[in-house]
Amino acid sequence: MDNPKVNIVEVGPRDGLQNETTSIATETKLELIQRLAGAGLKTIEATAFVSPKRIPQMADNQAVMAGLDLNADIRYPVLVPNLQGLEAAIEAGAKEIAIFTATSDSFTQKNIQCTVAESIQRFIPVINECLRHNIAIRGYLSTVIDCPYEGPITPARTADIAQQLLDLGCYQISLGDTIGTGTPERVKRMLVTVQKNIPAKLLAGHFHDTYGMGIANIYAAWQMGITTFDASVGGLGGCPYAPGASGNVATEDVLWLMQGLGVETGVDLDQIVQTALWISHQLGRPLGSKTGRARAIT
Ligand code: HMG
Ligand code: MG
Repeated sequence: MDNPKVNIVEVGPRDGLQNETTSIATETKLELIQRLAGAGLKTIEATAFVSPKRIPQMADNQAVMAGLDLNADIRYPVLVPNLQGLEAAIEAGAKEIAIFTATSDSFTQKNIQCTVAESIQRFIPVINECLRHNIAIRGYLSTVIDCPYEGPITPARTADIAQQLLDLGCYQISLGDTIGTGTPERVKRMLVTVQKNIPAKLLAGHFHDTYGMGIANIYAAWQMGITTFDASVGGLGGCPYAPGASGNVATEDVLWLMQGLGVETGVDLDQIVQTALWISHQLGRPLGSKTGRARAIT
């Protein structure tokens, strides 16, 4: 195993569940997180401190946090859009948050009711408060390839906003192909431009699998030196403000890719497949990953 370890940020409990229309019991979410941790995942995005009117599925954020062992050797970042969310996250004991914006004003308006520039201004007091409380901040940048409302995004625009998020104080920028329209060569072109000023170790890939390109895009990004990837067990998920967007690339598919590349992840594939089967059953939907289906019948 000569390749550097790849870190998987499991986003199933947040990105994976946020779009589910039927209410999911807090206990089910907690069991999901427990199973993911048991499989070896060290970073699990637990919930979001966003408006419950907009994202009802995350309304039990306090209860989810109360059910976690926040002193364990596992990071549980939570999504925070503004100061109000940060205050609630701090009250719940969060030690790490993720702020989120996008490359395009149209998507950002729909998602968080402001322009990209306004979102950056909105994050300044959030970051200052995080620094006071010693809270780590990850930054999400959505629509890095295409915006569902504005079409193709130039790599220069993606690079510009990624840099602004880093300058604010984020320790890493997760580059989101929110609607999963990216293909490997476009991902590489985007990364060539972004990496002119930002080293790969400060970047992560967040690929939705709408067109089945998630794994190909991760492989392309990995070849460009990216070693952190967001993924969702069972391929759960989708963004409510990105019409047609399906789930994140499935964690088990990423594990299969990395296993084939001889790259260590520290995560047990079979336990993830079992968890994918279990959560799919809980949600009453078919398992959304190829690797999961293949491993479940062998
Ligand atoms: P707004 O309407 O402009 O907010 O929404 P406001 O400040 O005017 O407040 C309106 C109401 O919301 C008030 O309540 C506030 O108290 C409440 P009311 O007086 O009407 O009863 N409110 C809050 N409640 C709970 N927590 C808060 C909060 N803030 C205000 N933090 C806001 C602006 C940002 C709040 C809203 O648009 C929002 O919550 N948006 C979140 C959208 C979201 O979660 N989207 C999905 C996550 S992003 C994603 O999935 C992409 C990603 O995966 C990467 C990728 O794939 O590219 C990360
Ligand atoms: Mg996402």
